[in-house]
Amino acid sequence: MNPKSSESHLESRDRPQQNVLVLGATGSIGTATVDVLRNLNQVDPARRWCLWGASAHSRVDKLLEIQAEAERWQSQSSPCRLLFSDQDVAKSRVESERSLQNPVNHAGSISVGPESLVQAAQSPEVDTVVAAIVGRAGLESTLAAIESGKRVALANKETLVVAGPVVQEKLNNSPAELLPVDSEHSAIFQCLQDSKNSPRKLILTASGGPFRTCTKQQMAEATRESALAHPTWEMGPKITIDSATMMNKALEIIEARWLFGLPADAIEVMVHPQSIIHSMVEFQDGSVLSQMSPPDMRLPIQYALTYPDRLPCDAPIFDRQKNWNLDLEAADLDRFPALGLGFEVAKVGGTAGAVLNAANEEAVGLFLDGKIRFTDIVDGCADVLRHHNFEPSPPLGRLLQLDGWARGELRKRMNLPS
Ligand SMILES: NC(=O)c1ccc[n+]([C@@H]2O[C@H](COP(=O)([O-])OP(=O)(O)OC[C@H]3O[C@@H](n4cnc5c(N)ncnc54)[C@H](OP(=O)(O)O)[C@@H]3O)[C@@H](O)[C@H]2O)c1
Repeated sequence: MNPKSSESHLESRDRPQQNVLVLGATGSIGTATVDVLRNLNQVDPARRWCLWGASAHSRVDKLLEIQAEAERWQSQSSPCRLLFSDQDVAKSRVESERSLQNPVNHAGSISVGPESLVQAAQSPEVDTVVAAIVGRAGLESTLAAIESGKRVALANKETLVVAGPVVQEKLNNSPAELLPVDSEHSAIFQCLQDSKNSPRKLILTASGGPFRTCTKQQMAEATRESALAHPTWEMGPKITIDSATMMNKALEIIEARWLFGLPADAIEVMVHPQSIIHSMVEFQDGSVLSQMSPPDMRLPIQYALTYPDRLPCDAPIFDRQKNWNLDLEAADLDRFPALGLGFEVAKVGGTAGAVLNAANEEAVGLFLDGKIRFTDIVDGCADVLRHHNFEPSPPLGRLLQLDGWARGELRKRMNLPS
């Protein structure tokens, strides 16, 4: 975590127009970010919040809607650039339907291929990059934004899981600011604002997902539909399955380890089914601070964009007059073995994060396609992790190689062709 208050950042924050690039704009975090930008243009008249560019992978129509929406609040001289990471999708749809119909307005505003996301993240016109692509696919563009000294609002936790030390090194050599969007990490970040001493414990809260009270046997029989039915959060399918296995919390343990620079044994997980307390920090004097708000990602997204300013937000506020039961329960590592993997990987670092992440992404995809059982996801990840040749200080290239290896290995262990 390195929010910097160098002069260049103060100047950039004071600029009358804030250019925001949203990578993964068509997803759950991406669309919530567009809502936040619309709101900021109403509540922060001193600055114009401009959707400079937005990326999609498969949902072309959704991206075109987002562009049309942005055109309603930002001037014609600041059109929203469209980025398509999947070349084939973009070619077949966009060129024929939109840019050719309206070549003047959109000429030059469409870029295709994964490298176009990296180039956009490096553009000197961009102030803030919202990293909201799901999975390891978000790694290169997030690293490019950090190298280029941007403010990075990080939703893509997989970047830190795969390459935490690489990110840290790049942050040390760049004026970039990395601000958390994950509600738990945003909560911790908010609680740490006035503290000069390192905290004693970070307590990540977890909703417990749809299977919080289920037995292992019941989880073994979980269907795609039951695993996708999250009780408190509406999110994309991958993170929703990660929440059901609690692999999401495992990834967040690793994310917290790199964001806040504390060892794994200073991180705890507590189950909090209401998702109001987003996380807590225990300080050296034993005092515990928490951040509370109803589950809505617009608040942490907005805080990452406007930090250190706090501006009115569209997200609902915590209704203190209501009869709330704010329960906190110990996390059950036996029923949710993903948590143990998270602590283990946060402890050893090295190649373990890249292997766990890739095995999990592959396994979640296979579960969603109906090819493996729910409990195979974490069992398979544990198996792949145990069988990899651990290296303590891998370069980025090695991590990317291992990503491919772990995906193949997971399929092999599930008796599926590569
Ligand atoms: N949703 C939440 O509440 C939440 C909370 C905290 C953290 N996060 C994190 O935020 C990230 C995004 O989550 P989400 O729930 O918003 O996911 P999502 O709804 O599935 O959206 C994913 C986004 O990534 C794009 N994408 C998918 N595959 C891609 C690829 N190979 N290359 C480039 N772009 C690709 C998608 O494009 P198309 O839609 O066009 O295919 C979409 O814009 C994840 O890392 C997640 O862990 C999410």
